[in-house]
Amino acid sequence: MHPQKINGDFKGKNILSLDQFTPKDLSILFKITPKMKRIAKAAKPSKILEGTITTLLFYEPSSRTFGSFSAAVKQLGGQTVEIQNPQAFSSMAKGETFEDTIRVFEAYSDAIVIRHPTQGSAQKASEVTRFTPIISAGDGVGEHPTQALLDLFTIYEKWGRLDGLVGVLAGDLLNGRTIHSLIRGLLLFPKNTLYLLSPRQLRLSRVDFLSFSKRKIKLIEIESEKDMPKNAHFWYWTRVQKERFASLGEYEKVKNRFVVTKELLRKHGNKNMILMHPLPRVGEISTEVDSDERSVYLRSQIRNGMYIRMALLSLVLGKI
Ligand code: NCD
Repeated sequence: MHPQKINGDFKGKNILSLDQFTPKDLSILFKITPKMKRIAKAAKPSKILEGTITTLLFYEPSSRTFGSFSAAVKQLGGQTVEIQNPQAFSSMAKGETFEDTIRVFEAYSDAIVIRHPTQGSAQKASEVTRFTPIISAGDGVGEHPTQALLDLFTIYEKWGRLDGLVGVLAGDLLNGRTIHSLIRGLLLFPKNTLYLLSPRQLRLSRVDFLSFSKRKIKLIEIESEKDMPKNAHFWYWTRVQKERFASLGEYEKVKNRFVVTKELLRKHGNKNMILMHPLPRVGEISTEVDSDERSVYLRSQIRNGMYIRMALLSLVLGKI
């Protein structure tokens, strides 16, 4: 898949992959994001998206991504059409094809945000629409570009840069789409090193590992906490993606192999790093570390989700 590059101009573009971005595109987005924070904190809604309708079409469960897109549109004075679980509640249940569903919502909306369990589905939707941009909110085990944008912004807010960083990415690297997008974002910048901590079965696919390794990023695969670097700028923990396993037994074998505890942070962390997680967590970060000031997953990381989506929608809809 080779979606169209942003090239400094977001207007009307589909947002499907971090491969579409350059450092310049990220800096355009990151310049607008703090303004969105101010708008969100102000009592009056902004009129940036007034007169626009964004359809949220979610074929997979979601609370954060769905909620933050919905809130982002409303903060900017736009409106939403919200469809969750269309397999059960829409004409799809009567046998309508994916393509027809997309065509129908294109007729109503200025943008369509889509989450779907099949890799490549957002791309497929973008091939059906003629004038309405598609924003992927996660395509199966593929990518989750808007999550990576908020993750990169969170790292940038803390460190003031996206190069020369050391990170630990842990958990389900094979199936985790947030991981696939985040690595694509970090390899746009020089001198980044990522330690990839996972059970062997959940390593990056060999295709991804080889293609990422050809870029200007150093990837070090590890299978034990004792090989973690002491000098990480961030840890990015993820959930083992239960819904991607063929059987519960296979999932049980690998779930929660690596759990962040106070002890792990004390032994392998450092005082300046941040601890991130896209959420939901299901035990892989112990609640005892929630109050640690390095834990950003329930604080800035989650808030940045709405701000970055406000900025992205304004740009894609050509309103800013
Ligand atoms: C992620 C997802 O859906 O991929 N959640 C999210 O959007 N914040 C991560 C996950 O489900 O593990």
